[in-house]
Amino acid sequence: TTITVHPPKPGAKINPQMWGVFFEDINFGADGGLYAELVKNRSFSFPDPMMGWHKISPSKARGALSVQGDDPYAVQHPRYLRLQSQGTDVFGVANEGFRGIGLKAGEAYRLTLRLRCLSGTPALRVALYGENGAVLEQTELSGLAGAWEERSLELRPAATDPKAKLYLLMVGAGAVDIDFVSLFPVNTWKQRPGGLRADMVQALADLRPGFLRFPGGCIVEGSELDKRYQWKNTIGPAEQRPLLINRWNYEFLHRPAPDYFQSFGLGFYEYFLLCEDIGAAPMPILNCGMACQFNSGELVPLTDLDPFIQDALDLIAFANGPATSEWGAKRAAMGHPEPFNLTMLGIGNEQWGPQYIERLERFVTAFRAQHPEIKLIASAGPEPADERFQYLWPKFRDLGVDIVDEHCYARPDWFFANTHRYDAYDRAGPKVFFGEYAAQSDKMVSVDNRNTLECALGEAAYMTGLERNADVVVMASYAPLFAHKDAWQWTPDLLWVDNLAVVRTPNYYVQQMFCHNRGDTVLPTEVSGTAPGTVFASAARDDVTGEIILKIVHRGAAPGYADIVLDAVTPVHARQIVLSGEPGATNTFADPARIAPLPAPVVIVGPKLSLPLKPNAFTVVRIKT
Ligand code: AHR
Repeated sequence: TTITVHPPKPGAKINPQMWGVFFEDINFGADGGLYAELVKNRSFSFPDPMMGWHKISPSKARGALSVQGDDPYAVQHPRYLRLQSQGTDVFGVANEGFRGIGLKAGEAYRLTLRLRCLSGTPALRVALYGENGAVLEQTELSGLAGAWEERSLELRPAATDPKAKLYLLMVGAGAVDIDFVSLFPVNTWKQRPGGLRADMVQALADLRPGFLRFPGGCIVEGSELDKRYQWKNTIGPAEQRPLLINRWNYEFLHRPAPDYFQSFGLGFYEYFLLCEDIGAAPMPILNCGMACQFNSGELVPLTDLDPFIQDALDLIAFANGPATSEWGAKRAAMGHPEPFNLTMLGIGNEQWGPQYIERLERFVTAFRAQHPEIKLIASAGPEPADERFQYLWPKFRDLGVDIVDEHCYARPDWFFANTHRYDAYDRAGPKVFFGEYAAQSDKMVSVDNRNTLECALGEAAYMTGLERNADVVVMASYAPLFAHKDAWQWTPDLLWVDNLAVVRTPNYYVQQMFCHNRGDTVLPTEVSGTAPGTVFASAARDDVTGEIILKIVHRGAAPGYADIVLDAVTPVHARQIVLSGEPGATNTFADPARIAPLPAPVVIVGPKLSLPLKPNAFTVVRIKT
């Protein structure tokens, strides 16, 4: 194989935000995942107010448990728990967490709850129990006040347990109201109280993504319009954010998730902050007046669309407005007087049909008049390669949208076979955001899809095609991002978590290798002397260091060999990292580093580089000339 790179003929500039991440609260991605809250149904607001809670009543205990609604702690969460005990034994409740509560030995956890004592002088015992029933930590709260008050204490479990429980037990006779029971690790990301899971954010930070798309996905749309994601309900004090059923709370793939709700503890402010923390440009996607077309497809009449457009305009004010403005002041009150520098906005997720175009047009008109600086991203339906959705593109050109969001989930063969897809795209029209994609090892929407190396290589090959077409493709993100191993609805996913650990998939490492080796300017590249479909390559120049960054995917079971020829320049030094292994290999909780990038030597022979190609490998070579 010969790979020829032409440094004297530089091509397009690569968007510094080219490779990013797509976040959606699917697979327990937010509640039970990135949002580090460990108590499920903390405000008794689920339709079944006791979901996630269990009565603890030893044989000698005489007590009653009820859900009340008079004079609640927060009107947004009108229900709370009342415990009444005759004091003959402890009596109370346990919370099961999100498929258990993950605890680490010796680490600090902060419990916060709202209490009101109605009668007697009972104490409240707070305990952490391991899965096997052992007490890992316990303490008591006494001196309970007669009016609602917030109480807080720190717990340090004696042992690590992925599936612990939190117990709240009355000690002594009386009656107590309990609400908003919250347990967080103290060691959240940046130690922010009520913050995000540090190990999960670290995995994102380690990618160094160019942008973060949020909050979805289908949850933007909702199954019906009243269940759509509304960003204004997700800011302000956490206990004032109303609960919403999650779009993935249904029997998808025969995996029911009746306990899947959105607390919005991870809301729009936290998304913007996360973007800032990890150096990613924020990319919010908002509802365009249409519910998910895979569900009800409910439409808001055009005459009633204005509030949806106003929500979008107000989001710009919330993110970018001065701290003295109405929406900027809300941001400042949450702790961020400086603007978040929002530059782009998606209108709708996976929408199609003339109904979408009519609604999109009204958003475009309002934004061009009031916020011409914001780049608008339109949605190209669920499968842009499908001819049924192709008619959208001429409309997008007419409307002058800036970027079109294309999605694609397909078998790895599709990714290997379509690396030239964007070669023929119109250069004069809107740019492309390849906003959701993942190679499916089994088939589209299947419980058997795995994050195999073969899938990751298909994605890498396809990404070389995106890079070569950086003049038209300006951003791309794998989807979905996170999945909890005991609570997922969709697979494959970039990162798998349980209550204690994160597993980085081969697909994650492909994304990371692209993010870390983006390059600034495309360099024309040719592959010759090999069977079609076995070697895929792209090259870019790092304009700061002057290095040539070459990305090569080698598909095949036999080792290969590549001569790297640099047109008119001489290599002086080169280093490479390689991701390789068995095509069916995956990373697991037991063996999380089975497929991971490793450095390998490079031999320079005169003006050429001689590169052994491992079987089934993705290689990044950085060449100094
Ligand atoms: O990524 C999972 C889902 O796939 C997204 O919610 C949706 O946009 C797409 O259909």
